[in-house]
Amino acid sequence: MPPPDATAAYRRAEEPVEARVCDLLARMTLAEKIDQLHQVGVGDANPNNLSERREEFQPTFGSYVLNGAPDLALRNELQRRAVEESRLGIPAIFGADVIHGYRTIFPIPLAQACAWNPALVRRASRAAAEEAAAHGVDWTFAPMVDHCVDPRWGRVCETFGEAPFASSVFGTAAVCGFQDGEPSVAACLKHFAGYGASEGGRDYSYTDISPQRLWEAHLPPFEAGIRAGASTVMSGFNDLNGIPATANAYMLTEVLRTRWGFDGLVVSDSNAVQQLMRQGLAGDEAEAAQKALAAGVDIDMADGLYRAALAGLVTSGRVPLARVDTAVARVLRVKFEIGLFEHPWRLANALTAQPPAPVRLELAEEFARESIVLLKNTGVLPLAGGVRRVALLGPLAESRGALLGSWAMFGRADETPTIAEALREELPAGTTLRIEAGCDVAGTSAANFEVAVAAARDAEVAILCLGEEAEMSGENASRSTLRLAGKQEELALAVMATGVPVVVVLVTGRPLELGRIEPGAAAIVVAWQGGSRAAAALADALTGRCNPSGRLAITWPRSAEQIPVAHHVRPRARPDDAGAYRDGPTAPQYEFGHGLSYTTFTYSSIRLASATVAIGGRLRAELTVTNAGDRDGSETVLWFIRDPAASITRPLAELKHFEKAALCAGESRVYGWEIEPARDLAFPDADGRAVLEPGEIVVRAGPSAARFAVVAANPI
Ligand code: NOJ
Repeated sequence: MPPPDATAAYRRAEEPVEARVCDLLARMTLAEKIDQLHQVGVGDANPNNLSERREEFQPTFGSYVLNGAPDLALRNELQRRAVEESRLGIPAIFGADVIHGYRTIFPIPLAQACAWNPALVRRASRAAAEEAAAHGVDWTFAPMVDHCVDPRWGRVCETFGEAPFASSVFGTAAVCGFQDGEPSVAACLKHFAGYGASEGGRDYSYTDISPQRLWEAHLPPFEAGIRAGASTVMSGFNDLNGIPATANAYMLTEVLRTRWGFDGLVVSDSNAVQQLMRQGLAGDEAEAAQKALAAGVDIDMADGLYRAALAGLVTSGRVPLARVDTAVARVLRVKFEIGLFEHPWRLANALTAQPPAPVRLELAEEFARESIVLLKNTGVLPLAGGVRRVALLGPLAESRGALLGSWAMFGRADETPTIAEALREELPAGTTLRIEAGCDVAGTSAANFEVAVAAARDAEVAILCLGEEAEMSGENASRSTLRLAGKQEELALAVMATGVPVVVVLVTGRPLELGRIEPGAAAIVVAWQGGSRAAAALADALTGRCNPSGRLAITWPRSAEQIPVAHHVRPRARPDDAGAYRDGPTAPQYEFGHGLSYTTFTYSSIRLASATVAIGGRLRAELTVTNAGDRDGSETVLWFIRDPAASITRPLAELKHFEKAALCAGESRVYGWEIEPARDLAFPDADGRAVLEPGEIVVRAGPSAARFAVVAANPI
């Protein structure tokens, strides 16, 4: 193949991106264009078998999914073929699911949100981008900013919790972390839109979302991510109110393009174009391809339908060539913008060969520390200095993979210290640590209960590590219940019956039902799936070397029977407990924002700079928090609003601002929020138009959705 014309405008980096896109597009054949819209997974390919698999991997293919074992040589060989063996030398773009780290695994996104620290989300995403880029990744399929309504849905672990505002802030931080810096990795907001409302928490299911709910809960994080400059968006698997997200022109064109001005590319989720047939929207592959492209999906991930059907659809006039051109232009634009034409190669460097650098592991540990949530503490924690006999029990005490969670395929379980190893290191010399699993995570045998109970009897304190294996949450990992799997709950009750104080540690990707074990637990700590350094962070929290500061970014239900349950419900029609369950509590186990510390914080009431604010004005709200205990700690203040009388009813509490800060023992600090009515007090109507009405707004701030210092403002 003769080398592409080096003088062509599209090859000249100094030309404006749009000129390069137009020039290149004008040179392309229909087949070359369609190949730019085709994305394949590399599966078991390797640099040596590529020549036997020419049909599977043509040099003209536009993009690849690099999930699986990291293989920079394979990536660069595929790229060499694209650049040197295709007529126009268009580089391919390589995507992968870098969700919460690459080789260094950070806490799952749900845990990240519980740290309430956007700077950490950004730094972790940057570190992940650096590691991923070193292994050939140009594009990550992250962040996921879906709004989950049911924690039985396995993908709740990939969300930033239940508050749309928090998802917006953390999603934005992730986009900036991935993209802004060198090397830059293109971000992908997913799954557009509504996937988190999967019926009954069953993955890939129908989603029935009112327009009002769609606009106020599901869409804001996507809009924020677009504003932050995300290069790409992934359409969801879900059928949204009868029009699957992958063929939903209202979402993909009207909302995303026309209203929000997004000019990046949209990729389908894996096989989602083909799935339009299963969902009942298309009778055959050609119709599926035609509907997805017409709605606004530019790249077809994995199923090959665009490649199989688009040429025929264009020739027969069912798909206008202009629509193909638009999609190709979007793909090329992203490739030009991220500099692929100038820098098609990713070079092997220290990051490709070595285990994670200490500085990254320190970041992972810092993040894991901040994401740990102390749910209950009767005083047993931090462990007293004099404790010398500790029983470390439960099926996750010596697990490695469970600490990493799902989407950790590039991380290494064998490099991940267990809780047992970390505690051994952290506890003072001379402490006896007796380790007994007692049972498996999901097994049915209680045969080892006795040894675990005996170990507890001999100890001054028992630390009981319960929860989920990594594969019990994530994609296609829905559960019908939030109960601890297998015999874990029975083990906990048996250990508690010894009378030894029991610290329950939860390694989990979702909230779990605790009703039967909560009363007997001396303390409960959620370590989540905290990543590569989860164990060290947990050991620090248990011994008091660090003071827990995580707060729930999701309401923790008592059981699955309470679902849906969230802090942003609307008021019931009748007061007090009218309408509440008659056969059990209506309040959740732990409120949104709940999380304890080893110190105590006191709140002043809120001070408003003035009683009213004009539409275009600003109003500062402040309060003073004092660390009234004798230990240093960090406190997150959550700011909520309530509009008590509006033209469209509003939730009881909407998170609108948060701030975390460290306070030394005895220190007081002013926390503040600069309220801007158009940004903070408006709400969308069912068509997404912002509504801002005169009247009273109640501003509340506190550590959780249940504990407030309240003020009523009359803002407009
Ligand atoms: C399916 C998942 O839904 C999506 O989140 C992921 O990015 C793609 N597969 C690619 O692996």
